[in-house]
Amino acid sequence: MCGIVGYVGKREAFPVLIEGLSALEYRGYDSAGVALIDKGSLVVWKNKGKVAQLKAFAEKKVKPGSTIGIAHTRWATHGVPSQANAHPHTDAKNRIALVHNGIIENYAALKDKLKKEGVVFKSETDTEVLAQLVGKYYKGDLVGAVSQALAEVDGTFGIAVIAGDNPDVLVGARRGSPLVVGVGDGEYFLASDASAIVRYTKRVIYLKDSSLVVLNRSDHTIMDLDKKVMTYEIQHVDYTAEALAKGGFPHFMLKEIFEQPDTIRNAMRGRLLVDDGSARLDGLNLVMQQLRQINRIIFVACGTSWHAALVGEHMMEEIAGVSAEVEYASEFRYRNPIIDPHTLVFVISQSGETADTLAALREAANKGATVLGICNAVGSSIARETHGGVYLHAGPEIGVASTKAFTSQLTVLALLTLLLGRMRRISHDEGITIAQALQEIPEQVKKILKQNAAIKDIAKRYWKHNNFIYLGRSYNFPVALEGALKLKEISYIHAEGYPAAEMKHGPIALIDKDLPSVVIALKDSVYEKVLSNIQEINARGGQVIAIATEGDKNIKKYAAHVIYVPKTIPMLSPLLSVIPLQLLAYHIAAFRKCEIDQPRNLAKSVTVE
Ligand code: F6R
Repeated sequence: MCGIVGYVGKREAFPVLIEGLSALEYRGYDSAGVALIDKGSLVVWKNKGKVAQLKAFAEKKVKPGSTIGIAHTRWATHGVPSQANAHPHTDAKNRIALVHNGIIENYAALKDKLKKEGVVFKSETDTEVLAQLVGKYYKGDLVGAVSQALAEVDGTFGIAVIAGDNPDVLVGARRGSPLVVGVGDGEYFLASDASAIVRYTKRVIYLKDSSLVVLNRSDHTIMDLDKKVMTYEIQHVDYTAEALAKGGFPHFMLKEIFEQPDTIRNAMRGRLLVDDGSARLDGLNLVMQQLRQINRIIFVACGTSWHAALVGEHMMEEIAGVSAEVEYASEFRYRNPIIDPHTLVFVISQSGETADTLAALREAANKGATVLGICNAVGSSIARETHGGVYLHAGPEIGVASTKAFTSQLTVLALLTLLLGRMRRISHDEGITIAQALQEIPEQVKKILKQNAAIKDIAKRYWKHNNFIYLGRSYNFPVALEGALKLKEISYIHAEGYPAAEMKHGPIALIDKDLPSVVIALKDSVYEKVLSNIQEINARGGQVIAIATEGDKNIKKYAAHVIYVPKTIPMLSPLLSVIPLQLLAYHIAAFRKCEIDQPRNLAKSVTVE
């Protein structure tokens, strides 16, 4: 759950590394550090806190002239956030420095062994064990020492390593954790993802799993972990460093909420066939015959992606007529699921690096399932390990709270429903109705975004409340869950999402004037029922913020506040109803002066189980 940057070239390494770390801070941010080579010796600067603190602390002390270095931003797994536990870690003789993303599972056994050999440890981390191992084997050949050390470790790693007496060589390796090489002119970059290096080069090599890379100023070699040379491809990354900046918004989250008309359009571009009332998804890598034979889908995901999967399940069963179920990735792998040749497993992940989802993917593949992915991050581990899939094309999502990825996931799920549904029970005309409704969504989202100021006003009235309940039914029950998750993760307010009708089975006891209820009450088949739930809340002195369908004046009689969304077909309504909930959570968190893009205890991609 960390970010890695490495550099070897002709520039001063320190500023390059700090810039790279800042771009990667969304991956974790409880401590940060840098190691440089200064006249044949390693110099390490590291601290608890954010990258800006590291920069302020080390900037004046770093001597000019270091053109090679490694750096790290950490999200603690083994040991508390502290200077000692921050990376880079060095070996006993201070000859090598190493940064690591991932988990060394057998670190305790390795540590005991090294201790018996006389090694004194400086930190509580699993990573230091790896640094000490590399140090133990290092006799001038850094690649050899890294490869020898990695042969002894179980677990996952993305690492960057340098040796003080070898100022021309930067070694990287990965197994299970992402690592990308940036190819410059007389210089190389190494990073957990391309956003750390795009300002310097657009030419990147996404390292395959279980590979090792040796970089010097003029050359690079890519091998497997046994040092056998591997093939690779240099790719051009198509987003700029500017795309990563906040674009005039105070937070990435708000920027990403406002990007949704475009990102939803991007997700359907070239895929929605309005005239045929269908969709084409080339990346599935399945022929029509195979798609026709599928009679069950298992969606596997975590967090917000899991909420998208719940909507997908509903679409798939109601519209496409394909039996579907949704699993938490973290539970799926420990449950011995039944998978037959007619079952398709879909893993959904924005980052494509979520460890639980990756493990579930491997479990399903191991049982012989065809596993497809719905991912945002191109070249991510999940994207690479699935048999096929669909990219979201939402661009990098930097705010830790997922927003645009969620609506893109819903869009792709709607396309998938169209595709599979047209092979089964959706008629040509019904297909056209769905396709036309989908085509209208981006403009409808734009209309909702225009209510930003009004939603901010509602947030202003409620930001001091410490508990919220979110209610929805049918397609909008998962949206209630998502609204509650958005609020709790960025504002630290306790919020629960519930199916509206379940309220009477317990949560209704919570209702009083201090517990605002956010209720999704659209004009659909469950409208009257949800209205009854709202009346039950009113009768107990509760305050209701309703998300309602444009033109529904009636609801004003029952709700203290109403946020209107345009009318669409029920299966697409989550694409609209979630937007006010994202904005409400955002503004409440902003009033509470929370660190919206980097909420406490969270990181953007959860690469630990
Ligand atoms: C919530 C959030 C998380 C992620 C979850 C899965 O806003 O961001 O709940 O949705 O960690 O992440 P991905 O989709 O990257 O697998």
